[in-house]
Amino acid sequence: MDNIYIPKPYKIIKVDRLTDIETLYRVEFDNMSEIKFGQFIQISLPKIGECPISVTDFNVEEGWIEFLIRKVGKVTDQIFNLKARDIMYLRGPYGNGFDFSNYENKNLIIVAGGSGLAPVRSMINYIYKHAGSVKKLDLILGFKDTSSILFKDEIDNWRKKFNTILTVDKGSGIKGEKVGFVTEYISHLSIEEDKSDLEIIIVGPPVMMKYAAIEFEKIKVSDDKIWLSFERKMSCAVGKCGHCKIDEIYVCLDGPIFNYTKGKKLLD
Ligand SMILES: Cc1cc2nc3c(=O)[nH]c(=O)nc-3n(C[C@H](O)[C@H](O)[C@H](O)COP(=O)(O)OP(=O)(O)OC[C@H]3O[C@@H](n4cnc5c(N)ncnc54)[C@H](O)[C@@H]3O)c2cc1C
Ligand code: FES
Repeated sequence: MDNIYIPKPYKIIKVDRLTDIETLYRVEFDNMSEIKFGQFIQISLPKIGECPISVTDFNVEEGWIEFLIRKVGKVTDQIFNLKARDIMYLRGPYGNGFDFSNYENKNLIIVAGGSGLAPVRSMINYIYKHAGSVKKLDLILGFKDTSSILFKDEIDNWRKKFNTILTVDKGSGIKGEKVGFVTEYISHLSIEEDKSDLEIIIVGPPVMMKYAAIEFEKIKVSDDKIWLSFERKMSCAVGKCGHCKIDEIYVCLDGPIFNYTKGKKLLD
């Protein structure tokens, strides 16, 4: 029987430095037969360590997967030094991912803050390429400042098809720039009185998810219409070690995507 903890080596195809600390890696990958938007992979480097990273995009036919990795510590600092043709060790995909059937033919709103865009980017790109997969998509994307904006070219493309609000916490004086937290722009959306077709996805730092969800509660969106993605510290990623456990919930298995009815407790 295969040992699930043993990762396989994969070659990096392309490296794009998006900001001073965030890099996009395209890596050869062959385990995507049942991959879902919002799942994550355990990435490791020998003698350094392992960390969970969201699958930010993938292409099954072309055999690649992409990761947006923020340099924050032991493992990610070393990953930051990798170049095209270097090797990364991967195991997964893991986690529940988004169940797209929840959003099909619905009015979907995605609110993402900073690198919170990573776990939803593949879904946005899918909707972009598959007209009619949702009824309507609204995007509210927030970044710290102009130099922190990720996937600028893709956002410019998304704007052509979806109502897209791009905002920065700290403005740089550029004409037309939207300044403020994503939460401030939720009231700018035109949301129908009948919310039966509405679904909301919020991804970002816990404090941002908490206050964004409260804004939707204020306009009478019921909790079961809201979905969140969590980044808990993990170790095994397969429900064995208990590292990610909060009460009876295993974030690695039951998440990282949670309906707000359950996720609300994880935010406190
Ligand atoms: C499901 C999931 C998906 C993720 N997706 C991405 C992604 O797409 N891109 C990305 O850059 N990062 C992502 N992360 C976070 C990433 O796993 C951590 O940044 C990484 O483990 C840090 O490892 P390190 O050895 O470089 O840092 P360490 O040296 O271990 O830690 C550096 C600092 O980061 C803190 N830290 C470590 N892990 C986490 C965590 N999970 N949450 C909050 N703080 C943490 C530590 O407490 C410490 O302060 C994800 C995490 C999870 C659980
Ligand atoms: S990370 Fe080991 S149980 Fe979830």
